[in-house]
Amino acid sequence: MSKFILAIDQGTTSSRAIVFDAERRIAGVGQKEFPQIFPEDGWVEHDPEEIWESVVWSVQTAIKEAKIAAGNIAAIGITNQRETVLVWDRETGKPIHNAIVWQDRRTAPLCARLKKDGHEALVSKKTGLLLDPYFSGTKVKWLLDNVKGARQRADKGELAFGTVDSFLIWRLTGGRMHVTDATNAGRTLLFDIGKNKWDAKLCALLDVPMDILPEVKDCADDFGVTDAALFGAEIPILGVAGDQHAATIGQACFAPGMLKSTYGTGCFALLNTGADMVRSKNRLLTTIAYRLDGETIYALEGSIFIAGAAVQWIRDGLKLVKNASETGPLAQSADPTQHVYMVPAFVGLGAPWWDADARGAIYGLTRNSGPAEIARAALEAVCYQTRDLLEAMRKDWKGGGKDTVLRVDGGMVASDWTMQFLADVLDAPVDRPTILETTALGAAWLAGMKAGVWPGMDEFARSWACDQRFEPQMDDKTRKAKVRGWDEAVRRTLSAPS
Ligand code: G3P
Repeated sequence: MSKFILAIDQGTTSSRAIVFDAERRIAGVGQKEFPQIFPEDGWVEHDPEEIWESVVWSVQTAIKEAKIAAGNIAAIGITNQRETVLVWDRETGKPIHNAIVWQDRRTAPLCARLKKDGHEALVSKKTGLLLDPYFSGTKVKWLLDNVKGARQRADKGELAFGTVDSFLIWRLTGGRMHVTDATNAGRTLLFDIGKNKWDAKLCALLDVPMDILPEVKDCADDFGVTDAALFGAEIPILGVAGDQHAATIGQACFAPGMLKSTYGTGCFALLNTGADMVRSKNRLLTTIAYRLDGETIYALEGSIFIAGAAVQWIRDGLKLVKNASETGPLAQSADPTQHVYMVPAFVGLGAPWWDADARGAIYGLTRNSGPAEIARAALEAVCYQTRDLLEAMRKDWKGGGKDTVLRVDGGMVASDWTMQFLADVLDAPVDRPTILETTALGAAWLAGMKAGVWPGMDEFARSWACDQRFEPQMDDKTRKAKVRGWDEAVRRTLSAPS
């Protein structure tokens, strides 16, 4: 019997594929980075063919490393960078333009205009989101308006729109399936998360013809079967979730009040609010955590655009380290008497500020400041931003979050120093699980559970194990002083300082 599960994790900077065995151990991994394209200030694009090739290569590599045949894989789960937009030709499967990435700010003027015209309340009510260029809807409009002939072709039914999951499924199934899941649909600005369907009013507002939209399914569902020519056998795709939602599942945050934060390119904290669509009064998002058997579980989300990307900038932009893993030790060696703050607003600021026009800044430099202080400021910034999200959640969530424990995952959490600082500024415990591949694990669980080879929710949740808990150790006075410095740095960075 086929017992292996394959997770495809298509992220912002790399694609990964992981083969899990029946005991949910990693049997094989393939990973490939691909280039980021920055055509103008604040614009971020990906070449869809590079995404596709990196996925195929990663899957083939993971299967090879696991020493299995594709026929031994019971099912595939897909998880992906969210909000990134692709539009392709239904006949040829060829995208009409590069993918416009979630970090891209080119639609900031359009969002500002829609806001000024008073549309944000309706958009928020239906989608739980805000009018920010981060989300897919305005990017789709940009493509249809700016790629020659696109709107006419869309009107004639020749084009399809999708987030990355949808594009991958189209390609994997040889163009047989044009589908997505509720978590990805819920990030487009076009989907009513209460009614769980595409919304005609929102589509009209953003000039997006409804014919180009994919069918929306549960997270564990039948998403089609891969073309046998790709990997050597037909494999059913049975799970799909946006990466932050997959991480919420992989962290087994299944009960209301449970909270996870993932440190990838950006940082995204999701608080499970159960069947309640909690409306934030502090500029957090209301989002679909996951949808299983037609039942929708919601979350409050705080989204930070730059986390690991700041470390990447330290490595590739400033060339202060050769490997990202050197950043923690470098930060640890910083002079403790200096108060250097970095606000990594490279592509604006996300929650809770939502300032598309802000740009990054470093404060407090002296003649003694060097690479170590800058590295420390970058890592600390991620922690301070997480604190801002948690403070907002504490105000929005009925329990007040007094007993908050934050489950963390993603590349940055390997650094003990960073996790200790995080616990210190949050003034709350931080739990790092034994399995750090929680995003892939979540996608794999959706597929494995649907295929009947992995356990149900309760048993899966019981198997979640903590590697290390970081308890807050910083005294109140120090924490308060540090947070005051951060607040001041943000205030000075906002495009219209308060
Ligand atoms: O919303 C964007 C998010 O899905 C990207 O995730 O892992 O690339 O930071 P990541």
